[in-house]
Amino acid sequence: MLEIADLYIRYGAVEAVHGISFAVAQGEVTALIGANGAGKSSTLAAISGLVAAAGSIRFVGRDIRGMPPHEIVRAGIVQVPEGREILARMTVEENLLLGARGRDARGLRSAYERFPILAERRSLLAGMLSGGEQQMLAIARALLAAPRLLLLDEPSLGLAPIVVARVFETLADLRRQGTTMLLVEQNALRALRLADHAHVMELGRIVMSGTGAALLRDEAVARTYLGVA
Ligand SMILES: Nc1ncnc2c1ncn2[C@@H]1O[C@H](COP(=O)(O)OP(=O)(O)O)[C@@H](O)[C@H]1O
Ligand SMILES: [Mg+2]
Repeated sequence: MLEIADLYIRYGAVEAVHGISFAVAQGEVTALIGANGAGKSSTLAAISGLVAAAGSIRFVGRDIRGMPPHEIVRAGIVQVPEGREILARMTVEENLLLGARGRDARGLRSAYERFPILAERRSLLAGMLSGGEQQMLAIARALLAAPRLLLLDEPSLGLAPIVVARVFETLADLRRQGTTMLLVEQNALRALRLADHAHVMELGRIVMSGTGAALLRDEAVARTYLGVA
């Protein structure tokens, strides 16, 4: 569905991503894991059209590199941004409708079915929600745009362990329903358990690739990213 080839990203004189290539297959979860500063968010930003990049980014056969972000969203790629970026002074429902094209009663209903807590809190200011609820809201808002490919940047960042588990259950549900996802995570254990395929990024390069299961069994991955002695 998505094919990245020889992707380079630079910020002024600093090159952050040095020619990475990988693909995302339809219906699968593909994960990018790696330490802070590895270039994961930059890669997502390039796919979303938010930073310039060299190389090729093809989405269902079409070159989308250099397209403006709103056209990339229209093509079907929707990102759940790092830090959720919900609008704290708008209500939960107003935030959801920002994701929809127009007043999408059916989309809202399915968002509320999926996340009953958001239905309960629909008239509250989004800033009153807990961190976990805000993450649910950010995911629900992205789903309202009916993505063909969902990009997620660190959905578990800053959340308590029990809430992290809930977020990953939500992602596993989405996967079962056939949602194609590209997931960036520092929680490598959770990401690899969920992912069909994963790539390890270090300093702007992909240094290892495999199925989630294979990387979970890899000793170097275990030592470096899973905290196994
Ligand atoms: N807007 C920016 N301007 C300059 N350098 C940046 C910018 N965003 C990221 N970088 C640099 O690019 C590298 C990769 O960052 P990033 O993609 O955020 O990594 P990750 O998401 O894996 O933590 C880092 O060295 C970071 O400092
Ligand atoms: Mg990042």
